[in-house]
Amino acid sequence: MPHYNAFRIHNDQGKHSAGIEQLEVVEPEQGEILIRTRYSSINYKDALAGTGRGKILHHFPLTGGIDSCGEVAQSNDPRFSEGDEVIVTGYGLSATDDGGYAEYLKVPAEWAVPMPEGLGPLESMALGTAGFTAALALHRMEANGQTPEMGPILVTGASGGVGSLAVNIFDGEGYAVTAVSGKPQQHAWLEHLGASEVITREQLQLGHHALEKGVWSGIVDTVGGAMLSGLTRSVRPWGSIAAIGLAGGHELNTTVMPFILRGISLLGINSADCPYSIREEIWQRLATDLHPRHLEDIVGQVVTLEELPKIFEKMLNGETHGRTLVQTN
Ligand SMILES: NC(=O)c1ccc[n+]([C@@H]2O[C@H](COP(=O)([O-])OP(=O)(O)OC[C@H]3O[C@@H](n4cnc5c(N)ncnc54)[C@H](OP(=O)(O)O)[C@@H]3O)[C@@H](O)[C@H]2O)c1
Repeated sequence: MPHYNAFRIHNDQGKHSAGIEQLEVVEPEQGEILIRTRYSSINYKDALAGTGRGKILHHFPLTGGIDSCGEVAQSNDPRFSEGDEVIVTGYGLSATDDGGYAEYLKVPAEWAVPMPEGLGPLESMALGTAGFTAALALHRMEANGQTPEMGPILVTGASGGVGSLAVNIFDGEGYAVTAVSGKPQQHAWLEHLGASEVITREQLQLGHHALEKGVWSGIVDTVGGAMLSGLTRSVRPWGSIAAIGLAGGHELNTTVMPFILRGISLLGINSADCPYSIREEIWQRLATDLHPRHLEDIVGQVVTLEELPKIFEKMLNGETHGRTLVQTN
């Protein structure tokens, strides 16, 4: 059988190592497809897994990368035929199973979404888990009653992958978006993407009371920790918070007051295990009504598998913005 390149992550008795290795192409079993990949992308979780700084992989070794797209090279499932273009994000990629940082990827067919009309391989990975998550946040918030008329939405960690796409997608849906970003050099870029206002982390007034003035009608939070804890106190009545990430910490210290006196909701966003029917619907929307404008301005760079370790470090040091794509073939 032919061989292919893959970015493998090892942990031998607590010692992390990662790099490119040659693996043998294995034929898909019943219910599986083999994808000749085109692109993957770099998400925060990928950087944690690839550097060994987060407990992401359930066992070792595995190929990294929670996103992938490409063409079906071989199918052992009636849902897909050779040549079909597909997207796979989340599920067990780079957690329980091999991920997308490879020239070939074998997955259960039920993890693959057909590439929707209106999206190509590069665009689908410019979105990737980050865009899917931002759109899922919008979807869940609107299902919970959020509307543009209720007032401004705050996006935290705005210069990141999820944050920048959330700014663009929420603005596109008619929301007034305030972006909070620790990178003053990216403020003009965030305004270009659709933020009507950009503030620094220091400018965000969190206060100390159980209830502060209601400022935000909703929050898309990728930061967690003290920022999310504080923000629960300044959401207007009936607003929703989409809890997405933990770039600033995983703890949440708040009181029940905003929930029982203002009726606010804390919505958990889990992109990896999103049910298939919602997953398909979100990808359809990303190809149509939620298709981000300025997608080309959100993609900072396209890198090779060899360049992954360098970008992981940059991401964890807060030196990246927007999305980084990985060309796998
Ligand atoms: N729930 C899900 O399904 C899901 C899906 C995707 C991602 N996530 C999570 O969402 C978060 C963002 O992911 P991403 O891929 O967009 O990562 P990213 O591109 O690295 O963006 C993270 C952003 O958070 C901000 N940030 C970083 N450290 C911070 C700190 N200590 N305090 C405050 N802000 C900080 C920075 O933005 P500024 O410099 O602009 O402030 C950074 O650009 C991660 O925690 C990730 O695990 C969750």
